[in-house]
Amino acid sequence: MPLPPGFLDDLRGRLTLSDVIGRKVTWDQRKSQPGKGDFWAPCPFHQEKTASFHVDDRKGFYYCFGCHAKGDMVTFVRDIENVSFIEAVEVLAQEAGVEMPAQTHDPKAAEKRDAQTRMIEVMEQAVNLFGLAFRSGQGDGVRDYTQRRGLSAETLKRFEIGFAPNSRTHLTQHFKEKGVLEDAIAAGLVIKPDGGGNPYDRFRGRLMFPIRDARGRCIAFGGRALSADQQAKYVNSPETEIFHKSRVLFHHGPASDAARGSGELIVAEGYMDVIALAQAGFDYSVAPLGTAVTEEQIKMMWRMAPEPIISLDGDTAGLRAANRLIDIALPLLEPGKSLRFCLLPEGKDPDDLIKSGGSEAMSDALAKSLPLIEMLWRREAEAEPVDTPERKAALDSRLRRALGQIQDSSVRSHYGAEIKERRNMLFSPKSSGPGRSEIPRTGRRSYRPPTGPSPSTRSSALAASGKASDPGQIREAAILLIALENLRHIAPLEDRFEQLTVTSPSHETIRNELVSALVSETDPTKSLEERLGENAVALLSRVPQARSHPYASPREDGELVRAILLEAIERHQAIADFDHETSEARQDFNDDGGEDITWRLRQAGQHRHHADRKALEGESSITSSSDVSPLQQMLDNQTYRRKKKPPPSSNQ
Ligand code: UTP
Ligand code: MN
Repeated sequence: MPLPPGFLDDLRGRLTLSDVIGRKVTWDQRKSQPGKGDFWAPCPFHQEKTASFHVDDRKGFYYCFGCHAKGDMVTFVRDIENVSFIEAVEVLAQEAGVEMPAQTHDPKAAEKRDAQTRMIEVMEQAVNLFGLAFRSGQGDGVRDYTQRRGLSAETLKRFEIGFAPNSRTHLTQHFKEKGVLEDAIAAGLVIKPDGGGNPYDRFRGRLMFPIRDARGRCIAFGGRALSADQQAKYVNSPETEIFHKSRVLFHHGPASDAARGSGELIVAEGYMDVIALAQAGFDYSVAPLGTAVTEEQIKMMWRMAPEPIISLDGDTAGLRAANRLIDIALPLLEPGKSLRFCLLPEGKDPDDLIKSGGSEAMSDALAKSLPLIEMLWRREAEAEPVDTPERKAALDSRLRRALGQIQDSSVRSHYGAEIKERRNMLFSPKSSGPGRSEIPRTGRRSYRPPTGPSPSTRSSALAASGKASDPGQIREAAILLIALENLRHIAPLEDRFEQLTVTSPSHETIRNELVSALVSETDPTKSLEERLGENAVALLSRVPQARSHPYASPREDGELVRAILLEAIERHQAIADFDHETSEARQDFNDDGGEDITWRLRQAGQHRHHADRKALEGESSITSSSDVSPLQQMLDNQTYRRKKKPPPSSNQ
């Protein structure tokens, strides 16, 4: 939906970014300079103790140097509250006391939004009606039931638990009188029979749980049967314009606030679990709505906590659910983001466990939760015995397939390393079996930005001699120089640069400033000069191989520049990953003379080969252009690969 031009700017002008963000973070008093509109805080988007999250009021942008979260006021509200862009604008408009613009451009969208607003209104009325019915004791058994289930008065209030009387007309009549029956039908509260006949209440004779979205609007209900002879244990709202269950988590808003404090998030299976957990002090609990956890829900959970703990019944159904979840999660893994699994004693859910053993029992179970890698390992390695060469080979192939699902190269390489370690131990003639207890458990890991070897472990060739001799640093210099010379073309590659592995402090400074500049659409030249003590282009130009790269000067064709950069980055990244993996493998070899290093090297080699092939495939699309193939030149350049043939039309 288009907003009138200038509306967002007006909004940004009326509010101060640090005010908007200040409600969700605690500023680092020493690092921040309020007078300059410069603020630092521990990042609200990832777990950390230091303050890497930077807010610049003058630019109106924030950027986290740890997890690279970035954006402006609107994206902040969107991401922290888990709402849509336009909803974030609404939140801010309300705060600024600005009317949302009339939707003259798109009457259809406006109509839809109005309908949704009316649906939310009838939902809120339903919350009140169900609450009233509960409190007035309309259903005799209800109070007994909630008491039996151990729900305190405070919990009943906090979760706005209500009661739907056993009547077909309780809500229907009310909404009819108010003239909003159509809205109640659209919201799924009232059912209109397909073949005609009188509309009637969907929820009858049930304990009612309002389901609110991240912004706190009631978008659905869950209704639990109060007696065993009722047809379904739970009846939930159907999918509607305001309720898409794969994108909703029960208790999202309050859990999100609690998770911000604790850094933890528990994912249970049902409403009653979340309610029991919250009552026992685990406010940071959510549940999907009667379906398996979806990709969207995992992403929502990661915005609340880096390693949500999935609590599951420890029986076969629970394990099956865990295994399904592993396959959904592997491709989504990112540095610092994972899942843990808490397998509860057989047949128990968190509600049962807390009832029998109190919050301590739950804490104990949570403390024993297993990292994703452990679950993956158990699934693959304990599926069948590995007592013959064929079975060992089959395990290798299963592991390879699992590793291949991981998209993030850095996470994949660490999974590869850890799996290799476990595999070694399993196949080692010394060990008599899998020896689960001997395997070091992966503990909670803190987040590290993907920067490759730290600047301190690898001194800068640039800083030392004024020019780089390390092929990796030469590649970095070329990539950074092309980028700086072609700033106006490269905004779409911003996230590639965020992830770029760099191995010298000056390259790191340049990369960080470059990304900041791309985010805020400013020119990094001056800030770079301040930080580096000299002009960045001049500094990088001292690497002759970078300077002589045909694209290391301002170019007209943005498309081509981006293609060149993409391939150069891809290739650089593949080689960096490969080098990292092989050096670790070599180190291991020196340490313990491991026998299966070849397996691991082959794994790393395959990934590199894959990247090479991708780079070459990309190349053919570029060589068709009339220009000389600069990529070819780059690949053939002896600094990138041993020389095979001279560059096609080198002008050096
Ligand atoms: P459970 O059967 O585990 O229920 O379903 P529960 O949450 O433990 O509830 P109690 O303790 O028996 O009262 C877990 C979730 O699956 C969905 C609901 O969201 C429920 O919270 N569900 C279950 C349904 O949607 N429909 C059903 O018929 C059953
Ligand atoms: Mn239960």
